[in-house]
Amino acid sequence: MRNIDENTITEAVVASFADCKDERLRTVMTSLTRHLHAFAREVRLTEEEWFAGIRFLTEAGHITDDKRQEFILLSDTLGLSMLVTAQSNPKPAGCTEATVFGPFFVEGAPVFPNGADISNGAPGQPCWVSGQVRDSSGRPVAGALLDVWQSDEEGLYDVQRGGDEHRARGRLRADDDGRFAFRTILAESYQIPHDGPVGRMLEAVGRHAWRPAHLHFMIQAPGHETLITHVFRNGDQHLDSDAVFGVRSTLIADWARHEPGQAPDGTRCDTPFHTLRYDFVLAPERSGLTAPRT
Ligand code: BEZ
Ligand code: FE
Repeated sequence: MRNIDENTITEAVVASFADCKDERLRTVMTSLTRHLHAFAREVRLTEEEWFAGIRFLTEAGHITDDKRQEFILLSDTLGLSMLVTAQSNPKPAGCTEATVFGPFFVEGAPVFPNGADISNGAPGQPCWVSGQVRDSSGRPVAGALLDVWQSDEEGLYDVQRGGDEHRARGRLRADDDGRFAFRTILAESYQIPHDGPVGRMLEAVGRHAWRPAHLHFMIQAPGHETLITHVFRNGDQHLDSDAVFGVRSTLIADWARHEPGQAPDGTRCDTPFHTLRYDFVLAPERSGLTAPRT
């Protein structure tokens, strides 16, 4: 392995993986090397540009901690997260589509009774959400476990505010008829964290950091594929320019606005409020997949 030049370097690196025992790892490293080299050749990457890339990744590492994941933001804004989500979660016709997970899910959020208020003081207009979880034959999925999370009207998730308090986030179990209901706050569009290298990249290429208003759901039930998705708010101005490419038209729904009066749970609401009704259809579990985290 001497006198390697720009024409022989790719095959030399690929050959260096020959003794890798893990076949999948060898496949991934070989393809990654070929594509990286092809990219550098195609754009005739300069030394300055190569170093700018190294600096960018270094900054992404420095800003990343257990609350801020700049590499996921990079993957999201380059469409890699949505590509992996889409190719890993093909859904049979009629089943609810999946979309990106995002960085703001929290394991072990508080469990609420069906019908409860999950907002816990998060700022925002009141909103009542209800729906039904069904299987692909139209049968209710009794006891499905729903994780719900969303940002508040200032565009922040509870985890971005520091502290351990859960707000506008919770877990609920659908009833025997697959029905669920909860009170929360109105979903509003927000900007993904853009005060770091990913934000600077978006600005440099003339893109914005906005995501259209949405509610996150993860729905789990034995015998069914875990569904990770959002419901997007119809009419949002960013539906066609989501910073992370996550919008599917089947996931867009109407939030109805109501004047002050009786809310769906029978209480009186003294301010205008919204309601959302959205039903989910779970795909049957594919063999070989890991068991749901119920
Ligand atoms: C989110 O929807 O929570 C999200 C997704 C990707 C990047 C940032 C936030
Ligand atoms: Fe979100």
